[in-house]
Amino acid sequence: MKETVRIFPAPYELAEKLAEELVDMIKAASAKNVPITVALSGGSTPELLFSILGDHFSKSAPWKFVHFFWGDERCVPPVSPDSNFGMAFRSFFKKIDIPERNIHRIYGEQDCSGEAMRYADQISEFTVKKNGIPAFDLLLLGMGEDGHTASIFPDNLSLFYSDKICEVSIHPVSKQKRITITGKVINNAQNIKFLVTGSNKAGIMKKILHKDISAKNLPASLVAPSSGKIEWLLDSKAGSLLRQ
Ligand code: 6PG
Repeated sequence: MKETVRIFPAPYELAEKLAEELVDMIKAASAKNVPITVALSGGSTPELLFSILGDHFSKSAPWKFVHFFWGDERCVPPVSPDSNFGMAFRSFFKKIDIPERNIHRIYGEQDCSGEAMRYADQISEFTVKKNGIPAFDLLLLGMGEDGHTASIFPDNLSLFYSDKICEVSIHPVSKQKRITITGKVINNAQNIKFLVTGSNKAGIMKKILHKDISAKNLPASLVAPSSGKIEWLLDSKAGSLLRQ
């Protein structure tokens, strides 16, 4: 596993650079005439990325070469302010020219268990396989202060180790139901980019990146792509406690 840590002055610079790299990745895919799969995350930093993509890059890439998925979704309708899809649609998708069939949202308004199975079938149908497991070309992840990622929380690591592609998760505080991809799919991605910003993440970032024993069972610590690449994209606040 190749692990890289990149620290940016502020969230905007991080999101802008990532937008440029995503556009380059899509252009390379179109040059080879091979579509790519990108799984998106919820959270504040991804929201900034979507705004930058929608406002400054909407015409910069042949979006039809991307199939967009989500690493997790809240079990709410797309119009809900909690919806990860809704957030990306308002900031980004409604501003670009992309076939609707390329946007594989999770139907948060449906029955969670049934939707987890339907969405798993979508992932299986549209991704390349590595060792028989779906392999996203790019997986964007965020990380909560508690070390959760996607919607796998520290109180239920069985979701990380599940042999399924997707599972139903429950937020430990709000008890909100969610659908999440599992560790099997997360660790099979070709490229994982963790987007972590804010001083409230500095302590846990230090524990995770310094391999502190206290962090070894946190979901974000368990992200270790078998043959892919993992990059931690941090702003200076989230990276402020790391050894230089
Ligand atoms: C979600 C996200 C979740 C998020 C983290 C970090 O659906 O909420 O997938 O995993 O990435 O909670 O969110 P912030 O970047 O906003 O702190």
